[in-house]
Amino acid sequence: MINAKITGVGGYVPEKVYDNAYMESIVDTSDEWIIRRTGVKERHISDDNEYTSDMAIKASQIALENSGLKAEELDLIILATVTPDYFTPACACLVQKALGAVNAAAFDYNAACSAFVTGLTIAKQFIAAGTYKNVLVVCADTLSKATDYADRATCVLFGDAAGAAVVSATEENGIMETELGSDGDLAITALAYRNSDEENEKRVSKRKETIWMAGQAVMKFAVKAMADASLRVLEKSGLSWDDITLVIPHQANYRIVDSAIKRMGITEDKVFLTLEKYGNTSASCIPVALSEAVAEGRIKKGDKIILVGFGGGLTWGAALLEW
Ligand code: UT7
Repeated sequence: MINAKITGVGGYVPEKVYDNAYMESIVDTSDEWIIRRTGVKERHISDDNEYTSDMAIKASQIALENSGLKAEELDLIILATVTPDYFTPACACLVQKALGAVNAAAFDYNAACSAFVTGLTIAKQFIAAGTYKNVLVVCADTLSKATDYADRATCVLFGDAAGAAVVSATEENGIMETELGSDGDLAITALAYRNSDEENEKRVSKRKETIWMAGQAVMKFAVKAMADASLRVLEKSGLSWDDITLVIPHQANYRIVDSAIKRMGITEDKVFLTLEKYGNTSASCIPVALSEAVAEGRIKKGDKIILVGFGGGLTWGAALLEW
């Protein structure tokens, strides 16, 4: 039986920071409201000429270095983004070129904030089928370029970042179980080509390409989706919470994480958070946090961890890994 395992992980955040004092200067909000309702203190923001692929390349280089693999050994690069540099070429192709991954196929996919878990699931399938040995999963978003900075309910949440992981064939335990789901009935929207007066009207800025969401509905959905998906992978693996060293959830709002872990029946000492420093950076939240947890020694070889996310679509997913 061929298994798939993460052999190197990397994260990147841009230098520029929007702290809560800055948010107070652009919309009618307060540091106190943002911290109490979301838990976010700072977000990192890309420069005007810094794009999703630029950040994706940096995170990928770190992941490759940590894995000890050469770029030529990669068979496939899959990249998740909702803010690509171009509709075509895929951002994954820009990463392929910059890394010199001359033997790799490359494509983009979109599962919004659940995309890291989705990417691990895709990588595992290719590896288990014997098609590929080494897959690079990259998540990157410049959400700041799609944020409505006139909308105080969304602009305080988002930041920019990229995270990447090399997934390789192994006989060891690695990606043990995954669980994915979607519900197209509930939406967080940002439009590409479709013209819609109704969509424009929802936005404070009236710009359809900026992110709009029904915050309360998403929050309620997210708590249940994250708890249920985590319990499902635990159940499939036959393990219990006592076997799990760490949970890394999507970092959208502290209140969502807090309610979800109560529903899971675990305490915060089992949870790794970067929300305060980076806000919601879409799919890269989980790999960036994973990369920091590994660097800080919170995850050691043999530890079992759960990664769990939810996001636009709506989509959700969880993965149970042995490190
Ligand atoms: O990656 C997945 C994507 N999204 C999410 O996970 C987001 C999920 N939702 C949320 O995180 C929360 O719903 C928000 C943080 C967006 C909003 O928090 P909430 O507790 O659901 O607030 P609310 O929308 O019910 O608004 C409460 C009040 C409103 O004022 P009124 O109508 O009661 O006078 C809002 O206008 O808070 C007001 N408000 C703000 N006040 C100060 C909304 N945003 C702000 C703000 N500063 N930034």
